[in-house]
Amino acid sequence: MTSMLLRALPLTSLVLGVPLVAGCPTTPMDTTDAGPRPDAPGASTDDAGPSSGPTYTGEVRPILAEHCTGCHVTGGIAPFALDSYALAQAFGGRIVEVTEQRIMPPFLADNSGECNTYRDARWLSDDELATLARWYEIGMPEGDPSIEPPTPMLPPSLSPSEITTTLDVGAEWMPSATEVDSFRCFVVDMSAVGDQFVTGYEVVPGDARVVHHVILYEPSNEAAAATVMGLEGEDAALGYDCRGGIGASTYPVALWAPGSGAQHFPAGTGVRVGSWPAVIQVHYNTLTAGAHPDRTRIHLSSVASGVTPALITPIADPANLRLPPRMASVSQTIEQRVPANIRVYGIFPHMHQRGIGARAELIRSGASDAQCLTELPRWDFNWQLGYYYSSPFDVARGDTVRVTCDFNTMEESEMITWGEGTGDEMCIVYFYVTAS
Ligand code: HEC
Repeated sequence: MTSMLLRALPLTSLVLGVPLVAGCPTTPMDTTDAGPRPDAPGASTDDAGPSSGPTYTGEVRPILAEHCTGCHVTGGIAPFALDSYALAQAFGGRIVEVTEQRIMPPFLADNSGECNTYRDARWLSDDELATLARWYEIGMPEGDPSIEPPTPMLPPSLSPSEITTTLDVGAEWMPSATEVDSFRCFVVDMSAVGDQFVTGYEVVPGDARVVHHVILYEPSNEAAAATVMGLEGEDAALGYDCRGGIGASTYPVALWAPGSGAQHFPAGTGVRVGSWPAVIQVHYNTLTAGAHPDRTRIHLSSVASGVTPALITPIADPANLRLPPRMASVSQTIEQRVPANIRVYGIFPHMHQRGIGARAELIRSGASDAQCLTELPRWDFNWQLGYYYSSPFDVARGDTVRVTCDFNTMEESEMITWGEGTGDEMCIVYFYVTAS
């Protein structure tokens, strides 16, 4: 069934083999200005009175616990903790700004309902935004300190009984100390896994200080598998350098960025693996912590049968990506006729650092209006995330999917084209689909 789907969807061969993630920002975030806004109130608490507005322990802490302190905790991936009254107060102004602008929690797709909604969306409701803003406005009162703190929501993990295999790169790898960003591809034997459908996964970075992104790729065919084995075998070192891409036709099975936690594919679906060795691409960044050895693992949850095979299929047009310099906004629009009846479950957009926004639309065959599938009002290269629709939808053979990526090239002096390097760009949208 999978191979039928592969044949029915020739777009998979379009740009497979390009890594979804090509680089991380090399400047660490400046948190020195993250303290209270200079206009922070503070003396108005008395006037407001304890019952006239939200308090930290009453309304604010539950919001932070549900949406923030999974990452903003000591030893977490965020640059500072937000798990005490003193910290919440110190960052109060910034908390209001970043939540209002929907910079935090990190979730780039518009989940307001204007253009679809998503499963497990990290999205504050309008009421929650208003509560945070009001709390700041009235001087950030603490409230009743005897209220029990809620348990923070941690990124999800796979339970031991869900894990069927753990992929392991085999040994520790020391990322380059001279190159801040390096990309290593590790070829992993899948014969122990066998022919299986992955239904969920959890990436476990060996050293979270240096691991920026992890992607598990499955070769598209036997020739591609032979190519990656050849690349691995070129020298005695573990893995091969893959800054310029995986080097063969592959598709991404598992995507991981800090804070992602375990992922389950949509219920009743799975992605086929195990026919050939797979490739784990790890993007290392050694700017803040220096070089440390890493041995990243990926737990898989898989079944031999009983699920509908899914495909992670890209829409991109590398040859026609041409972005003139000194443009505050310049777009690439790609239209692709859908070659088979499919059900669409999710979307994984990808651009480099000049990306400022993106959208996907559907034009039903015969219709003149485009229907909004996903809107990313903002792009942040730091957050390469996948988004699963709250309700999957069917797309018919002959319908058209339109993808638009918006870029800012103000800093450039030359035409920007498609490529892997930080000097290049990409506009690629993967869809998670099954036959319908
Ligand atoms: C998935 C992990 C994660 C979650 C959830 C999260 N943050 Fe963050 N936050 C980060 C990271 C990482 C950074 C550093 C900047 C970046 O990488 O985007 C950050 C940065 C920030 C900053 C500093 C940004 C600036 O420009 O000053 C603030 C303030 C902040 N977060 C507040 C929040 C609040 C409030 C919430 C919840 C409503 C939240 N964050 C949820 C990971 C997270």
